Amino acid sequence: MGPRPTGPIGPGELVQMTDTRGVKTTITTQPGAVLHTHRGQIPHDSIIGSSEGSITTSTRGIDYLIQRPQLDDYVLGMPRQAAVIYPKDAARIVALGDIGSGSRVLEAGVGSGALTCYLLKAAGPSGAVTSVERRSDFAEVASENVCRWFGGDPRSWTLIEGDLVDLPEAEVAAETIDALILDMLAPWECLDVADRIVRAGGALVAYVATTTQLSRFVETLRITGRWTEPRSEESILRTWHLDGLAVRPDHRMSGHTGFLVSARHMAAGQHAPARRRRPAPGAYGEDYQGPGAQQVDGGEAG
Ligand SMILES: C[S@@+](CC[C@H](N)C(=O)[O-])C[C@H]1O[C@@H](n2cnc3c(N)ncnc32)[C@H](O)[C@@H]1O
Repeated sequence: MGPRPTGPIGPGELVQMTDTRGVKTTITTQPGAVLHTHRGQIPHDSIIGSSEGSITTSTRGIDYLIQRPQLDDYVLGMPRQAAVIYPKDAARIVALGDIGSGSRVLEAGVGSGALTCYLLKAAGPSGAVTSVERRSDFAEVASENVCRWFGGDPRSWTLIEGDLVDLPEAEVAAETIDALILDMLAPWECLDVADRIVRAGGALVAYVATTTQLSRFVETLRITGRWTEPRSEESILRTWHLDGLAVRPDHRMSGHTGFLVSARHMAAGQHAPARRRRPAPGAYGEDYQGPGAQQVDGGEAG
C-alpha cells in the first residue's frame, strides 16, 4: 500500500470521469478498452497519459473531466452489500479513535469495506487493521472493494471471517488494540472481547443507527465499569447551493445516518469511577436495579 499515484494517468488505474451534469463514472484504465456511456464513447487510450484535471470529449461531443477519485467519491460509488459508513462519520470515527500512522485498529463488521478503506488510510503502512466479518459473502465484496481502492491487498490489512463475539484468543492478543470500531446491530454483545483486546487507554467507538441501540449500548457499557463515561454524538452535514444570488442550503440532505458512541478503556483490574452526577429523575424508571440505583428518585425523565 504505497502513496496514491500522481503524474500522468497510467494503465490499470482508477479514474473518475465527470460529465457536464456532474455525473461521475469510475473506471479502471485498460489499453484498447472503450468506455460506453449514453452520452457517447471514450477510448481509454485517450485517458491514459493524461494529466488529472484535463478534459476528454466523447464521440457525441460531451466533455468529461478526468481525475483520480478521492476516497469519499470511491466509497459512495462502490458496489455495496450492507449500508456503508458515510464520509462524514468515517472522519469522526478516525478522530474519536485517535487513529493515525502506526495505529493498531480492529473493526467489526466489515460490510462493504467503506470504513475499512478509511481506517487503512489513516493507520498507514506502518499500522495494522484487522477486520472481522461474520458473513462470507459480505467479506468477499469488502475484499474486492478494498483491493480495488488500494490496487492490491494492503499488507497492513487482515480480514477474519467469523463473529467478533467468538474471536479466538490466538487471532488477537490481549490488550494490543489501540482502537476498536463496532458497526453492527448488537455491539453490546462484543464488550467481553473488547475488554480483552483493547489496551488500557485505547478507544472504543460504536456506530449505531437507532436510539434504542444507542441507549442499550451505553447502558451496557456503563454496567461493565471497564470504560470511561461514554460520549455520544451525531453529525449533521448540510451542503449548499451556490449559483449567483441563489445561495442557500441544498433542498436535499441526508437527514440521518447514525450515532457515534466513544469511550476509553480502563487499566486492567480498574473500574471507572462512579458517576457523581445524579441521574435525571425518572431516567431509569422505578424498577431500575443497575449502577446508581440507590440515587434514583422516580418521577419524569429530564
Ligand atoms: C452495516 S454493516 C458494516 C458496514 C461497514 N462499516 C462499511 O462501512 O461498509 C454491518 C456488518 O456487520 C456484520 N456483523 C454483525 N454482527 C457481527 C459480529 N458480531 N461479528 C462480525 N460481524 C458482524 C454484518 O454481517 C454486516 O456485514
